[in-house]
Amino acid sequence: MSRANEHRVEAGGRLDEPCARRRKEIAEAIRRAGGINSHPVTHNAEEDLLWGAMVAKLNALHPRVASSRYLQAKERLPLPVSHTPRIDDLGRRLDNLTGFRLLPVDGLAPAGDFYGRFADDVFSTTMYLRCPGRPHYSPEPDMLHELVGHVVMLADPLFADLYRLFGKAANNATSEQDLQAISQVFWFTMETGLVQEDGRPKAYGAALLSSSGELAKIGTCSVEKFSIQEMIKSDYDISTYQGKLFIAQSVDEMADEVRSFLTRA
Ligand SMILES: [Fe+2]
Repeated sequence: MSRANEHRVEAGGRLDEPCARRRKEIAEAIRRAGGINSHPVTHNAEEDLLWGAMVAKLNALHPRVASSRYLQAKERLPLPVSHTPRIDDLGRRLDNLTGFRLLPVDGLAPAGDFYGRFADDVFSTTMYLRCPGRPHYSPEPDMLHELVGHVVMLADPLFADLYRLFGKAANNATSEQDLQAISQVFWFTMETGLVQEDGRPKAYGAALLSSSGELAKIGTCSVEKFSIQEMIKSDYDISTYQGKLFIAQSVDEMADEVRSFLTRA
């Protein structure tokens, strides 16, 4: 699997049997009845409980470690705690805020499709949850990651525009190398980006904001000055906690640099 495809890792062999069986059921339901702003999967009580426990934990952490842009976006698009959100309802609310809509996918969107859909105001979301045995981090993007991380951030018009630009750039990429560079920059900004606020690093990246384990480690891993060139050269591993993060002095600085990279000739 190429680096560019890592955002959509197939969960496969590492899952215990009940978890793998449930993911298969969910994928089949999405293939059968999915579509933009649809809700093809009914989650069970165990999944509602897991969702609620994780969201409550993240809600308690966010005021201290999340960027103010994220906290404001969460007020614009609040997520339920007592049960998993309905994708149709959430998609319509998001559409009213920034024009983005949600497309349930069975977990196997190649990188070009995943990024490319942003250009059409579509965010692809999985609908399975992490396995209950390892609730604080999911190496593959589960529904908690997609909704608590990406979809809340998409309620902010500046971030929604940046996602669109990532989509246009991915659609215009003429080589695997170009797509990989776009993927690297997406990873180190929209997934794991930090911004300096009140003299401290605060998260705006979805992979950090949706993982209580990652949020707890922000102060302990290597943090580097924001640099698109360094991001393109840097290696990363989505299957474990992050070892290197990039911090911008402000969201505006990050957005200017990312726009300039994505719209370069
Ligand atoms: Fe992600």
